[in-house]
Amino acid sequence: MKGILIAFEGIDGAGKSTQIRMLAEHLRALGHTVCVTAEPTKGQFGQKIREAANSHHRLSPEAERELFVLDRREHLETCIFPAIARGEIVISDRYLYSSVAYQGARYDETGADPATLQHEIYVQNRAFAPEADILVYMKLDVDTAISRISAGRQSMDAFETRNNLIKVAEAFERFIPKHPHAIVIDAMQPPEVIAASLFDQIRGCLE
Ligand code: TYD
Repeated sequence: MKGILIAFEGIDGAGKSTQIRMLAEHLRALGHTVCVTAEPTKGQFGQKIREAANSHHRLSPEAERELFVLDRREHLETCIFPAIARGEIVISDRYLYSSVAYQGARYDETGADPATLQHEIYVQNRAFAPEADILVYMKLDVDTAISRISAGRQSMDAFETRNNLIKVAEAFERFIPKHPHAIVIDAMQPPEVIAASLFDQIRGCLE
């Protein structure tokens, strides 16, 4: 049996990690083998991305976009493709859609039209990365996301400023509805409610 790829997306603070943990537990209880993974990865390029995010100088739009591409290629080759070939359910905390939304939100700096830049990033990624079989988008308003992020830690990194997150959320909402298997979740609901509804919808897709 061929495995499947489920990607979780949303702005920072939307609660992806909690839902991924609960979904993985549910699916394992049903007897599935589940591989939980994330981007940016802990590999060589992912480390560079994190170092840059923690410094005060954000990388140039081009350099940032390229590092995510390199990280994703490595992620697919070393982790996602082999797990899918073994018939596992791969759940990735972020995937190519984050590049379309986050790097696509930097249109001001590049002087590009937002939709054109997003499309370019999508095409660049799709040249080597398959579409996720299921895309779960956790939708949350930016102010709630920011209060959740700041309650959890001291400082916010370069990806998380309010103006940036507004653009990222707009970017996500421009293309998520176009995905053939997108599940949109209202991330304001209690975690158990979200988990139950998500599990129902995903179970439906697995049958
Ligand atoms: P995040 O999921 O928040 O990782 P962690 O919780 O380990 O810090 O990802 C870090 C940031 O990377 C997040 O703000 C979104 C950003 N990002 C991109 O800008 N482009 C991408 O392609 C990906 C995968 C992530």
